[in-house]
Amino acid sequence: CGGLTGREAHHLPASTTDDGKYSRIRPLLLSGEGVTICRSDVHYIITEFGIAYLFGKSIRERALALIEIAHPDFRPWLLEEAKKLGYVRTDQSLKSKVAYPIAEEREMTMKNGSKILIRPSKASDVEMLQNLFYHMSQQDIYTRFFQRMKSLPVAQAQHFCNVDFEKEMAFIAVTGVRENEQIVGSSMYVMDHATNLAEVAFMIRPEWQSVGLGRALQGRLAEYARSKGLRGFTAQILTENDKMISLIKQVSDQIEIKSADGVLDVVALF
Ligand SMILES: CC(C)(COP(=O)(O)OP(=O)(O)OC[C@H]1O[C@@H](n2cnc3c(N)ncnc32)[C@H](O)[C@@H]1OP(=O)(O)O)[C@@H](O)C(=O)NCCC(=O)NCCS
Repeated sequence: CGGLTGREAHHLPASTTDDGKYSRIRPLLLSGEGVTICRSDVHYIITEFGIAYLFGKSIRERALALIEIAHPDFRPWLLEEAKKLGYVRTDQSLKSKVAYPIAEEREMTMKNGSKILIRPSKASDVEMLQNLFYHMSQQDIYTRFFQRMKSLPVAQAQHFCNVDFEKEMAFIAVTGVRENEQIVGSSMYVMDHATNLAEVAFMIRPEWQSVGLGRALQGRLAEYARSKGLRGFTAQILTENDKMISLIKQVSDQIEIKSADGVLDVVALF
């Protein structure tokens, strides 16, 4: 297709063939199939399950981004084939069975006037998320993880972006154009079925702190959680983490705080 921007965008008629028997996104070309466009020229691939931004991405990111927009029935097979071909790690999982919730994307303006995009995260965001971690200060890493950490292994980073959009949700704040995004803030929750509450966690890049990004991310998480019928949030916060304490108190007036061994256990009901 191409376009006014000079970028190659490819819109598949559907993620499967008309009879639904075969995926149009496949691990390999079939015998005799030809390629007319070089892979490095393709910027986007679009299906009814979302948009894969491929330009400038690594093989792993590209493979995952394509699997995420394939029909859910074919995603497990595609993931297994991608593992066999060495495109993705053998411990890679894909939790989402539904389409990427594009309607949840929001452009927002921060207190310093900067515009950012807050969007649901994807499994293919993992490398950008590791990059965010490596830009955090040791102090921030300590207040986030309650321990000193020198690295964020892929398996752990996956936990913060590879969510099912149901009992787990994650929003990230990104700057830059789609093909070259940078994550400046991450937020997530994991729901506890027994209580119908969700535990939240945040990580904002130091130069983006105190401009309202935590508040904006928490606002999106709370709106989403309410739409899923959750009762409220819980958080474990170090007693000296004033900013996070102020942030969680913004969830509602119904706050319960218990303190033990330098850690606050907070319950905030909607
Ligand atoms: C804690 C954290 C998530 C807050 O995010 P943030 O984007 O910096 O916070 P915001 O700018 O949205 O401010 C939220 C509230 O904190 C308070 N606050 C902001 N800056 C503050 C500061 N320097 N000191 C004390 N309180 C402050 C304000 O009450 C503010 O509310 P307001 O906007 O109504 O004034 C972020 O600083 C962070 O990632 N810290 C490191 C990791 C961490 O501790 N994560 C939390 C563990 S779950």
